[in-house]
Amino acid sequence: MDAPDQHNLVPRHVAIIMDGNGRWAEERHRPRLFGHKAGVESVREIVEVAREIGVAFLTLYAFSTENWNRPNLEVSGLMTLLKSYLQSELRTMLRNDIRLRCLGEQDRLPEDVRSVLRQAIADTNSCRGMTLNLALSYGGRSELVGAVREMARKCLEGSLDWNALSETDISDHLFTAGQPDPDLLIRTGGEHRLSNFLLWQASYAELYFTEIRWPDFRKQQFLDAIQTFNLRQRRFGRTGAQVTGE
Ligand code: FPP
Repeated sequence: MDAPDQHNLVPRHVAIIMDGNGRWAEERHRPRLFGHKAGVESVREIVEVAREIGVAFLTLYAFSTENWNRPNLEVSGLMTLLKSYLQSELRTMLRNDIRLRCLGEQDRLPEDVRSVLRQAIADTNSCRGMTLNLALSYGGRSELVGAVREMARKCLEGSLDWNALSETDISDHLFTAGQPDPDLLIRTGGEHRLSNFLLWQASYAELYFTEIRWPDFRKQQFLDAIQTFNLRQRRFGRTGAQVTGE
């Protein structure tokens, strides 16, 4: 029997920057929203395969704080897609034991989206098969500001000791409180940047960039990313010899 090794691991937490919908549509001479619609199909497939192979946490960057600056038509189109996705996927989430969470400023979302989101989060609350985090109106810096503000308030009130503040305290005040940090962070669409995504949480994530536009990123492409992840040696600051024990 093969010795257990780190080369066939399923990352516990995978985070994805789903980029390239707009260009995918433009390349087909179609409106950008056409690309976002196709992107929803990728979302469905990736959620399904992630659950199937045993990913415990999947975080999808669906809408950033900066995305509010896009043309109104695109923003409202994305909100409509999001709402219909949540409505149509709720049964599948329950069937597949998927717990939904939202990372971001929920109060900035339109009321109808917020209410469907709230309901889906409540309905799936006891699901334990996988956690699906949708990052919506999410920005990593603003998340950190919120955490600092809340910790400062607790220090003043006396429930936190500023002198003893730790990394764990910061993690505990982020939207991802209680969840493990991402092991693998994928960005589709060919850009090589984090775009304000999980700035604190991704400090030791393996980064995987691909040219593939999000609507073309499906099961096989996801499995390829995981295979690449398994070829990496995660050293967390140690030497290679320390990690392999040689
Ligand atoms: C980035 O592509 C993508 C977005 C800003 C939105 C992502 C949204 C979806 C995949 C669909 C809705 C999500 C869910 C969870 C139902 P871009 O528009 O920046 O593409 P570009 O860089 O090619 O212009």
